[in-house]
Parts: sequence; C-alpha cells; structure tokens
Amino acid sequence: MRTMKKLYHAEAGYGMPLVLIHGFPLDHTLWHHQLGGLRDVARVIAPDLRGFGKSPEARRAVTMEQHARDVAHLLDRLGLDRAVIGGLSMGGYVALAFAELFPERLTGLILCNTRAVADADGAKKTRETVARRALEEGMTALAPILVQPLLSDQTRKAQPQLIGFMDAMIGRQDPAGVAASSRGMAVRPDRMGLLHRIKVPALVVTGNGDRLMAPAESEAMAARLPNAKLMVIPGVGHLSCLEAPEAFNQAARELLATVD
Ligand code: MLT
Repeated sequence: MRTMKKLYHAEAGYGMPLVLIHGFPLDHTLWHHQLGGLRDVARVIAPDLRGFGKSPEARRAVTMEQHARDVAHLLDRLGLDRAVIGGLSMGGYVALAFAELFPERLTGLILCNTRAVADADGAKKTRETVARRALEEGMTALAPILVQPLLSDQTRKAQPQLIGFMDAMIGRQDPAGVAASSRGMAVRPDRMGLLHRIKVPALVVTGNGDRLMAPAESEAMAARLPNAKLMVIPGVGHLSCLEAPEAFNQAARELLATVD
C-alpha cells in the first residue's frame, strides 16, 4: 500500500483539530468560510485529496480507503492523534472510510450532503463515463456540466458569484485525479451498517434543495448514528458549507462544543 508523502492542506486556528474533506471534483477552497469562520474554536485543517488541488499523485483509481489513509498520514505528519473529521459528499465517503479504518482517531464526525450507501450499477457506469470524459475532454469543458446540479435555484439567484467560483474550482482540477477518484467512488462499499458503531458526536447536514443527494439519505444516516444531530437547511443545495456558511458554522460550533 503506497501512502502519499505530502497531502497539501490549508489550515487556520488553534485547539481542537477539525479536518474538513472536500467533495468531487473540488479542492480545499470549498471550505474557505470554515477556515475563516471556525478558527476561533478549532484548528481547521482542509486538505486537497490525492489528485486534487495542489496534491499530486493520482493513479488509475484512488479508493476512498486510500484517501482516508492519506488523511491519517497527514494527521501523523502534523503530530495529531485524533480529530473531528468532516466531509462533504465524496469527502463524506472518505470520512466514513476513516471512521471504519481508524475509529480510535475519531473524536467527532460531520457528514455534509453525503450518503453511506454504495453506488447502484447505473451510477457505477456513469463514474466510468465521467472518468473518460475528464481525460478526453478536459476539466474546462466538463466544469459547466458538473456545476449545474451543485447549487440550489435559490442560491443561484441570491449568490450568482458562486456559479463562477465553482466553475473555476472544477475547471482547474487535474483530469487524471478526477478520473481516479471517480473510479474509486464506484467501488466504495456500503457503510450504512457501520453507522451504529460510530458513537462519537456527529452532525449530519444537508439542504432541502440538494438535487444530487436527497435529504432522505441524510435522515437515514442520522437515524442510525447513535449520537447525531440532523440539520436540513432550507433553500440550500449540494454545497451547504458554501451556500449557507453561517448556518453550517453555527451547527459545527455546537458539535465541537460537545466533543470530548
Ligand atoms: C460530490 O459532490 O462529491 C459528488 O457529488 C459525489 C458523488 O458523485 O457521489
């Protein structure tokens, strides 16, 4: 098993470590409101996963477990034994893989616009199509298509600048890294059965305008987690932390206050 030596990360603040893992095909800048807005209550650490942002070294496929090991290695490098781990969408898949592989290192969990079930066969095929299109057409061509379902209608109207922000973020990703994680997501296992074993405080956040993952998926996860709070933010789409940073940060603060 090859572990990447240097996962790039941005960080802000001091105290309780809080690792925030971006979605697909994004990078750590997704969390800029949390890096700025939670620094007084946590040491906020936002990595670029392998093959995204400033972290190189994607191979043909990168599994969620490999990403989770990279995050654990980053914690080692920072001299941190334990952390609250949060992730949005694909970042949530990685957070759940981390919870399964390193339960003793988890002090709290934030699952944002994500799900614990595996891909159905049709979704697996789409992953390969996305991987091929990224490699053949490049990310600038793909970005407008991938941005489309991310933001709610309300957000598009009220914060139109986020469309360009997300388009640029997706457009600058490395096609090889995007393809590798698309293939990795296709083979992730179902982790619904893991949830009842995660006893640490958990926050499950989503938006009622999320077109990619229905709020019912979040409700199902929150119902299985023994110590979870569910927050469904009205008018928000797939990117809760960016579309409604104040609501997200307030809920994160409340979670952090309950972490040992
Ligand atoms: C993401 O935002 O990370 C993706 O929607 C995850 C996925 O495609 O399953």
